[in-house]
Amino acid sequence: MALLLGVNVDHVATLRQARGTGYPDPIKAALLCEEAGAEGITLHLREDRRHIQDADVIRMRPLLKTRMNLEIAVTDFMIDFACQIRPQHVCLVPEKREELTTEGGLDVVGNQQRIQHAITQLTQAGCEVSLFIDPDLFQIDAAIAVGSPVIELHTGAYAEATGKAQAVELERLRVAAAYAHPHMTVNAGHGLNLENLDGILSIPHLHELNIGHALIADSMFMGLSNAVKAYKTAMAAYPY
Ligand code: PXP
Repeated sequence: MALLLGVNVDHVATLRQARGTGYPDPIKAALLCEEAGAEGITLHLREDRRHIQDADVIRMRPLLKTRMNLEIAVTDFMIDFACQIRPQHVCLVPEKREELTTEGGLDVVGNQQRIQHAITQLTQAGCEVSLFIDPDLFQIDAAIAVGSPVIELHTGAYAEATGKAQAVELERLRVAAAYAHPHMTVNAGHGLNLENLDGILSIPHLHELNIGHALIADSMFMGLSNAVKAYKTAMAAYPY
């Protein structure tokens, strides 16, 4: 099965917010990514609204031809908002206001009841829920227990590591994907780029990769369509 690419367009909105202008438009970017072959568009409505705004999500939802994957924290406001917008996918992520980006996976073990309730609400609204978790078997067990149909494995530790440490992180991801896959769909993402993608492609059972920062950065030099195509070409080598 082909490995799917979800492009995270938050970073287009980051550039817009830096000046408070109306450009660059993350929706225009999303539509271009779809045209270039992306199978989904990911966006994170952060509590501090540092990049994507509520209006972006509302406007983008009917315009996407593929699928919207909305990342949100597990708060009442965000769950209600997602239930109104009804994206095809909702990825629940942890969120700290002071962090530069999503730093660790969601603690499903410590928040089972709350997360289970969120999954019920979102599922009733027609959204497929994914939990963004570290490649940790206890977290996977908890994700199974709360009935999550999808997990996204946090690849940040792998992306940041080098040498032997990176091989250790890759093995953690491989073990986690094999452990989870009989129970749920397994996606992965965070910190992936054209250089570190190879290792990820050696992990069986993956369904989709969500890639943002590096792809949008590459687009400055090669254009957005070409950047999407470059990632798609690299991912076409996925042998599983
Ligand atoms: N997946 C999730 C759940 C994320 O929070 C992010 C970052 O917003 C990504 C994927 C994409 O990470 P990056 O921008 O480092 O490619």
